[in-house]
Amino acid sequence: MAAGKGTRLKSKRPKVLHEIGGRALLLHVIAAAESVVPAEKIFCIIGHEADRVRTATEHTGVQFVLQAEQRGTGHAIQVLKAFLTLSDQPLPEHLLVLSGDVPLIRPETLAALRDLHLREHAAMTILTAVPGDPTGYGRVLRRNPDRPDVTAIVEHRSLPPEQLHAPHTREINSGIYCFQTKALFDHLDSLSTNNAHGEFYLTDMAAMLVADGQRVVAIQAGTPDEILGANTIAEMMYLDAAMRLNSAKRLMSQGVTIFRPETCVIDPEVTVGPDTVIEPYVQLLGDTRIGSDSRIRSYSVIQNSHLGDHVLVRNGCILDAAAVAHHAVLGPYAHLRPESRIGEGAHVGNFVETKKATLGKGSKANHLNYLGDTVIGEGVNIGAGAITCNYDGVHKHLTTIGDNVFIGSDSTLVAPITIGAGAYIAAGSSITEDVPADALALGRSRQVTKPGWVAAKRASRQQVPQT
Ligand code: UD1
Ligand code: CA
Repeated sequence: MAAGKGTRLKSKRPKVLHEIGGRALLLHVIAAAESVVPAEKIFCIIGHEADRVRTATEHTGVQFVLQAEQRGTGHAIQVLKAFLTLSDQPLPEHLLVLSGDVPLIRPETLAALRDLHLREHAAMTILTAVPGDPTGYGRVLRRNPDRPDVTAIVEHRSLPPEQLHAPHTREINSGIYCFQTKALFDHLDSLSTNNAHGEFYLTDMAAMLVADGQRVVAIQAGTPDEILGANTIAEMMYLDAAMRLNSAKRLMSQGVTIFRPETCVIDPEVTVGPDTVIEPYVQLLGDTRIGSDSRIRSYSVIQNSHLGDHVLVRNGCILDAAAVAHHAVLGPYAHLRPESRIGEGAHVGNFVETKKATLGKGSKANHLNYLGDTVIGEGVNIGAGAITCNYDGVHKHLTTIGDNVFIGSDSTLVAPITIGAGAYIAAGSSITEDVPADALALGRSRQVTKPGWVAAKRASRQQVPQT
């Protein structure tokens, strides 16, 4: 169910597209659902900003059902029933219903919910938890606290005030259920809007099925955190922190040292080898993989990048879709843009920007360089301030630099250009023509020195009469 607006967020963005752990809520929920059924058997009920939600999630391969008007969770399932009945797909015997705004749900928990549902031959099985504060959630009422049988779900706003914190109303409804499809569909038309929100509540189905003599049971999730909903930005940030901390704990259990893990932002897919040290305030995002025995210093943001073993990333580096080989040293304050490939033991120093740049084994660009659209060999030294001029205003051009070249400080290499292996470029040169191997190229005007010129000028100024 992902059709709701998310009124409590006070945001233009549809709720299920808000992000935690670097991914939209709905993508987390789809991933969880995919752990128990293939994507083509997942029906995503969309409505508010449906096109936006579809665009952001259609790569997953799920099917979409449009709930044009959002009249409650019960109505969402009524729309699904109409869709399934009209389509030529066979009706599934059971349905697992998930809420698009309950993103921390774990595959193991969904499997346990499914297994209990099938074992108990229940018409409805409800996933529940007993959190510290049940405010805002629907409450699951049991016939007997020691038995799985449920009598009803009562929404928070429908509870009499004296029962809000009573012991028997502390178990909350997660908004995640298994249903026997036929039992559910047979009763859907009996739902009413006679409640605090004037909506069709899917939760009313529990008491209706019980009244019909069917079995409704509940199972508690392993931890209350995994079924927390995200109805406000503050709740979402709590879930975000919980998810990132889980990633940090996962890495730490694999031998990674993370100082002050609560300050780091680590996405779920990130992998890091043992004995790598991550300092406070580091972000590791997307498909990032880091080898072992490396060190990532504070304030570095590494996204979709692959780093080898024994790599040192000094403070404040920004990496995006870069590949860095073993023993390389970056930063402080290096900016590696997409398709930067830094070779083994190479150095990229402070205020150096690279883009589509290959830096060979052991090569160094240590101070204030721009290296774009370039292939640089091994053992090359790029002096301070030297840059590749890769753009002529219309097209990008390639700079090729052979092995063991020395590029003097403040040189400009105007691409397309090739510098042969072992060549030297004099400091301050503008190089516009290819340089053969082992040559020295100077591309600057010859220095003119005028001995005594300043002294003469000073003397002539002193002879001017004062007025
Ligand atoms: C719902 C449950 C509540 C439970 C809580 C758990 C109902 C009536 N209440 O409350 O018992 O404790 O979830 O998080 O179900 N949606 C639609 N179409 C609609 C309305 C909602 O697709 O017409 C979707 C929303 O996008 C959301 C999900 O259903 O992803 C839940 O809706 P929401 O309004 O957040 O329900 P809660 O008030 O949180
Ligand atoms: Ca909710």
